[in-house]
Amino acid sequence: SKSTPFDIVIFGGNGDLALRKLLPALYHRHRDGALSDDGGIIGAARRGLSREDYIAEVREACVRHVGIHFQESVWESFAKRLDYVKLDATKLADYQGLADRLKAQPQRTRIYYLSTGPELFSGICHNLASSGLVCPECRVVLEKPLGRDLASADAINESVAEVFAERQIYRIDHYLGKEAVQNLIALRFGNALFEPLWGRSSIRDVQITLAEQVGVENRGPFYDNTGALRDMVQNHLLQLLCIIAMEPPTSIDPDAVRDEKLKVLRGLRPLEGKEAVLNTVRGQYRAGAIGGSPVPGYLEENGVSPDSRTETFVALKTEIDTWRWAGVPFFLRTGKRMQDRVAEVVVNFRQVPHSIFSQAQTPGANRLVIELQPDEGVQLHLMAKAPGDDMELRPVALNLDFAKTFTTRKADAYERLLMDCLRGRLTLFMRRDEVNAAWRWIEPILDAWDHQGDAPKAYTAGTWGPAASSALVGRQGYAWHEES
Ligand code: BG6
Repeated sequence: SKSTPFDIVIFGGNGDLALRKLLPALYHRHRDGALSDDGGIIGAARRGLSREDYIAEVREACVRHVGIHFQESVWESFAKRLDYVKLDATKLADYQGLADRLKAQPQRTRIYYLSTGPELFSGICHNLASSGLVCPECRVVLEKPLGRDLASADAINESVAEVFAERQIYRIDHYLGKEAVQNLIALRFGNALFEPLWGRSSIRDVQITLAEQVGVENRGPFYDNTGALRDMVQNHLLQLLCIIAMEPPTSIDPDAVRDEKLKVLRGLRPLEGKEAVLNTVRGQYRAGAIGGSPVPGYLEENGVSPDSRTETFVALKTEIDTWRWAGVPFFLRTGKRMQDRVAEVVVNFRQVPHSIFSQAQTPGANRLVIELQPDEGVQLHLMAKAPGDDMELRPVALNLDFAKTFTTRKADAYERLLMDCLRGRLTLFMRRDEVNAAWRWIEPILDAWDHQGDAPKAYTAGTWGPAASSALVGRQGYAWHEES
């Protein structure tokens, strides 16, 4: 069904995220007929651009990022939605120009998408309020990073809360918009099969990996000030962990789901002081090769300080102190310039309690692999008898490939999240207390690293990270998925 009439204002309307993700996502939804015919998209930014100039810029971005789905006739009708307003987000007077473009219809959905640095969030919200531009049907979307620690995140949340009610605030974690991540929810709660096994009595350990092959790209200064723990663990990895580990919510309603996720975050065993040093590994890539081509080391990247101690890799072990999960290690890992681009969740089950087979044929343990990227799939590794006279056990995989099973186009995460925002669905957005709980758990790790004061461990670009990462898992007698 089509959305209701709307206006979307994108602050940072000609920035990288807007051009690469948001506007192509809106193009796709327009093409699919999901947007009301009465819906405007206004780019707001500091540059003095005419509407025509802006449309030309957006067109170029859509041609590049929409690829084979770009059609001239669709583009022409999409372009009619577009408008541009020159606005310095910090200048109250500039908001009048925006007010003039917006339709003053009280029932009309209005989204302010803040695709800017977080230092502008508070000012934009207050300037909107002072200009009379905040109404009950207004929503605000906040992009990450939402601060760099608990205090700065909370200061932003506090300031935004002076203008918008929590039900109007959409904090984006684009991982939650990925089809594959929602499929995790479907897998866990749409099947009776998993629930009885989903906990400490059947599961030995869980591994979540978000490995990228890219380096810091053109974001050197930002990344060098951020690092992998803040960039990936505080948000994407912890969100995935929540979905894997949460108790079944009573419904898919926003607060039912978010209450359960919050309980997981609060149940995470704190990693403080020595515990943090012992259970985390920090790495930084050196020159190496990705797919056969040489790539520079992190310290040689543009915008990165040559003596930087920023981590581009993190591996850590944590536990969740609940009845369901007590004693089950969760290994989390993320890195840039890794051997493969992989996002996956691996659930390792326990061995059979007693093997009836001869010692040489001790069965391997079952394993559930949920692949999120680059391909989506679910594999269940079972033991089977190899054909022949002897009882010889071999691991085999039941393999579900989503691309083969569902042939419809896979929507980008932002398409889903923008539509959810237009429809007022908050389930896939983070609540304020969730963000706080995540920072509360991350902060002591940052403190422990500061206190420890040594440099991250070097790893060669194109590998699986520093050797200490294997050792972290190895200490438990286990191994990372690709090593076992
Ligand atoms: C972003 C991080 O949130 O996620 C980037 O800031 C990272 O550093 C990106 O590259 C990864 O997202 P995806 O969707 O490409 O896996």
